[in-house]
Amino acid sequence: MSQTPIRIIQISDIHLLADTNGSLLGVNTQESFDAVIELVRKEKEPLDLILLSGDLAQDGSEIAYRRLSSLLKVLQIPIYFVPGNHDHLKQLAHVFPTDAISNKKQVIIKNWQLILLNSQVPGIVHGHLERSELDYLEQCLKAYPEHHAIIVFHHQPVPVGCAWLDKQGLTNDQECWQVLSSYPQVNTVLFGHVHQEFEQTVHGIKCYSPPSTCIQFKRKQDKFALENIPPGYRWLNLYADGRIETGIRRVKKYIGVFEENAKGY
Ligand SMILES: [Fe+2]
Repeated sequence: MSQTPIRIIQISDIHLLADTNGSLLGVNTQESFDAVIELVRKEKEPLDLILLSGDLAQDGSEIAYRRLSSLLKVLQIPIYFVPGNHDHLKQLAHVFPTDAISNKKQVIIKNWQLILLNSQVPGIVHGHLERSELDYLEQCLKAYPEHHAIIVFHHQPVPVGCAWLDKQGLTNDQECWQVLSSYPQVNTVLFGHVHQEFEQTVHGIKCYSPPSTCIQFKRKQDKFALENIPPGYRWLNLYADGRIETGIRRVKKYIGVFEENAKGY
């Protein structure tokens, strides 16, 4: 079998605003995103696809989603997304698909399957996978039992070690793990929401999150705090035998003004 991996990038928590001058806790989210995309463009090997793991826009505005699409179009790579708690489902459905960003919830590539789920509870910060999403997940897994599966949704299905943030994770994590652990081909879960690099293995399934493209939440904190660490993304190489190589790439410096005493967002 080919040893050439499938090369994917996970970009998360972009929080774009309708106003290009708008900022989030001292960070112009557009500028910060632009810096991260510039880094993606410097990738040495060609990419197969990009995943956006939620909070595409801070304000859920059509104008922000359309700008995101035009900013990503230059990459000429298939791009897929899941919604985050800040996203506006009706606007997402109105804007996507575009010629840059697909609205597909299932991607088959070589002997891998990617399944994209909606964990948003409208108007609420925490997440939940509705029965209909879990049914869809099972339907996809049953249809491709021989494909290694990667499941993508926004909210963390496992505590990341920040007490304040872990109250805002996936509320039906046990139900989710029950389904995931019933299918041996489930390889990896990718999520966003936590604005920090994280990895852990649960029931033999790898769980990963990337940094945000804007503000970073300080790791291992009981209360909200920002971390003065540059934005970036996660890269993943997927091999035919189910092996994954992954890591984080960050831009050189924090974009904007670091607000050390920020109490929330
Ligand atoms: Fe976010």
